[in-house]
This record gives sequence, C-alpha cells and structure tokens, in this order.
Amino acid sequence: MNWPLQIARSCSTEYSFRPMTQAAANIAVRCLDVVKSYGEAAGRVQALRGIELEVRFGELLMLVGPSGSGKTTLLSVIAGLLDPDEGECRVLDHNWQAMDRDDRARFRGRSIGFVFQAFNLLSSLTASENVAIPLIINGASLRDAQERAEQALERVGLGARASARPGELSGGQQQRVAVARALVHDPKLIVCDEPTSNLDHVTGGQVMDLLRAHAQAADRALIVVTHDSRIFSYADRIAYVEDGAIERWTESEAGLNG
Ligand SMILES: Nc1ncnc2c1ncn2[C@@H]1O[C@H](COP(=O)(O)OP(=O)(O)OP(=O)(O)O)[C@@H](O)[C@H]1O
Ligand SMILES: [Mg+2]
Repeated sequence: MNWPLQIARSCSTEYSFRPMTQAAANIAVRCLDVVKSYGEAAGRVQALRGIELEVRFGELLMLVGPSGSGKTTLLSVIAGLLDPDEGECRVLDHNWQAMDRDDRARFRGRSIGFVFQAFNLLSSLTASENVAIPLIINGASLRDAQERAEQALERVGLGARASARPGELSGGQQQRVAVARALVHDPKLIVCDEPTSNLDHVTGGQVMDLLRAHAQAADRALIVVTHDSRIFSYADRIAYVEDGAIERWTESEAGLNG
C-alpha cells in the first residue's frame, strides 16, 4: 500500500474531512451570523444583525451602504479588531475567537493589511517609517524594511515624499501612505475602509489598480468599503449593507447595471 493511502486509512476521521476542507479552500473569509451591539440599555445600538458573508480567494468584494449601516464595524470584526457578541468570522482558516491576544496580533501582522477610514498614521514618524511598521513587526531588518517601504511609496506615487511626516501631507497623500502600509508586507487579506475617499478620479483609479492587482492571486482577497460609485466597476461582487444586515448582492459591473 502506498504511504498516502496508509495515512488516509490510519486516520479515517481526517480523511473523511478532506472533501469539506477542499470545498472551503477557495474561501478566504467566512462570517456566520455575526451580531454586534455597542452601549447599554436605552443607548444600545445594534450595529450588526446576523451578517452572513463569504469572500472568495482572488476576489475583490465591496461593501456599500449608508453612513452608520455597520460597514466599519463589520471590517473590524473581520480583521479581529473587534469581537462579535454572537457568531464568528473565520479568516484564512483561522478563527479569531479561538486565538489569544498574542496569536491574534501575530496572525494579523503577518496576514492582514488594513486601510483605516481615518488612516491611523503615527504623526511622529515619516511616511516611510509608517509604511515600514508591518515589516518591522514581522522581523525584517531596519534596512530591508526601509527599502521596501520606499518601494511601496513609489508604487502609490509618493516616492518623493518618503521623509515627510503625516502633518506635512495632504489628506489624499496620507491615504496613499495608508494604502502603501497595507500592501507592503504582501498580506493575504487586505481590508480597506474608504480607500479612495480623499483621492481624485485618476489617483483613486491608480490606487484601485494596485489593490486589485494585489488581490488577483489565488491565495489573496480584498474587501473594500466605499461610497465612491466611481470605483464600483472594480468589484467582483458588491454587498449592500443596510441597518446592520446585507440586503442584497450584485456580481460584477454587469450585475450592477442590470
Ligand atoms: N464605538 C462605538 N460606540 C458606540 N456606537 C458605535 C461605535 N462605533 C460605531 N457605532 C455605531 O454603530 C453603527 C454602525 O457604525 P459603523 O461605524 O460601523 O458604520 P459605517 O457603515 O462604517 O458608517 P460610515 O459610512 O459613516 O463610516 C452606527 O450607528 C454607529 O453610531
Ligand atoms: Mg465607516
């Protein structure tokens, strides 16, 4: 008997799970019945009301919806920055709820890039130092981190501003620094909260080209929250979020216009 078959027979439980694992292999993110509230009693706000969501590898999923509908809350749960009250999110085959704080930080640092709605750049660091942070966290040498950070800034058109501090940059330039920081460590999942909100049409298109190119590999995925209808055509699928729930889906631009 050959050895793979021997192993399969000697651990029949694992073997019987194989088809399921393969079926899940093209799913980067799976959220099951996610519920999240903020506050207590009369001040309680139900931000997410039972979200069911799957993001496939290789796809760009957009989350669209009115202000206050729960988009940032959902991204935060997916990125493991916020715990849901009920339900769970599995990301790249990891369950946030099963990990302790250190494991979460390590996994997030290695595997996820996040563009925050408010950029969250460190004001005392230069643009290239901000972009280098994920690399340093992952153990790169300072020299290597700086070099790669500068290359990432070049890709978002900010090579010449690498030594500027966030306070010396425009809103759109800060946003592009945040995009460079999300891409620099080549994460498998990138989560972006309004990545083009401060950008003109051309620069917004360049940033989306960059993000989409990153996500198109078979082991990557990208989630973009946006109000910016100019970039809807970049999406493979769009989920419309309203009052904490996904109301409907469309597939690609053809679906959008249909
Ligand atoms: N830290 C918080 N404390 C209390 N309520 C919050 C908190 N964060 C968000 N909320 C509330 O939860 C709901 C969803 O907020 P969320 O930020 O997820 O919306 P959003 O869809 O991202 O909105 P926007 O498009 O304006 O960014 C809103 O009613 C908001 O007021
Ligand atoms: Mg938001």
